[in-house]
Amino acid sequence: MSVVCLDKDVSLAQSVATLMGCECILPEQHEFPDGEHYLRLDTHVLNEDIFLFSNLHQPDKKILPLIFSAGFLREIGAKRIVLVTPYLPYMRQDTQFHPGEYVTSRYFSKLISEHFDGLITIDPHLHRYHHLDDIYSIPSTVIHATSVIAEWIKTTISNPIIIGPDDESRQWAEDVAALADCAVTVLRKTRLGDRDVRIHMEQNDLYKNHQPILVDDIISTGKTVLETARLMVKEGYQKPLVIGVHAVLAEGAANELNRAIEQDLLANWLTCNTIAHPSNGIDVSVLLETAIQNFWA
Ligand code: R5P
Repeated sequence: MSVVCLDKDVSLAQSVATLMGCECILPEQHEFPDGEHYLRLDTHVLNEDIFLFSNLHQPDKKILPLIFSAGFLREIGAKRIVLVTPYLPYMRQDTQFHPGEYVTSRYFSKLISEHFDGLITIDPHLHRYHHLDDIYSIPSTVIHATSVIAEWIKTTISNPIIIGPDDESRQWAEDVAALADCAVTVLRKTRLGDRDVRIHMEQNDLYKNHQPILVDDIISTGKTVLETARLMVKEGYQKPLVIGVHAVLAEGAANELNRAIEQDLLANWLTCNTIAHPSNGIDVSVLLETAIQNFWA
């Protein structure tokens, strides 16, 4: 088995390779002035299983180097190539919300399935699809970060209550609460636009002495967690702590979240290291290493 990494930030792939006791191979990459890519990989992979790390957050510029790398690795004799993308993009357009919309999740999954033998990812946004098999035709392993999040909560926070800000977060919130052995409540969200959400909650005085922990899969604009925090503080709950699996973080989101700490709306916010960011506080390396070791077992 070999680990090959196309990411700029190689820390996660490097730490997984170290756990596996193998080298993390880094192809040479260069962008020509016209935006095309130069790639070079002078290595031997004959009959090897390759685990190709490419974190496809903001995927559009990464996808061609990825497909080229899969093609090249096959040419030089790799046995099977598994894509390891801790964040799986193009999952949220999972239906036609308005007439004429492209259901991009389907085309993206077809493209990846054509070029890879397998896929490993962490907490993909499975909402209207229940399994990756609904759209991916290659074997896949879905890792849940809930165990490492629950462990972090258990060892760091006393008297927590897990809050899922919307129905889509229910799967993570309930799982984390069960593993951390604490209470959970799931709120309702109405989305009015990309950066405009309303959160609805029932009052529950029982939990006003608990430390609320908002758990969501993706923090993008941050509006979902910020609106939830605003509402909770207004209603007399303690300042929530936010845990996101994926620090997708649209422009300005990290600053807004940091400002919310200064404004006494948030206790803090942190993310798993599925997407490299200074907010990373929960490590998923061991989960990835286990998934890799078991992939073809
Ligand atoms: C979708 O519902 C997801 O679970 C997240 O709640 C959503 O992507 C968060 O987006 P934002 O940070 O832009 O509110």
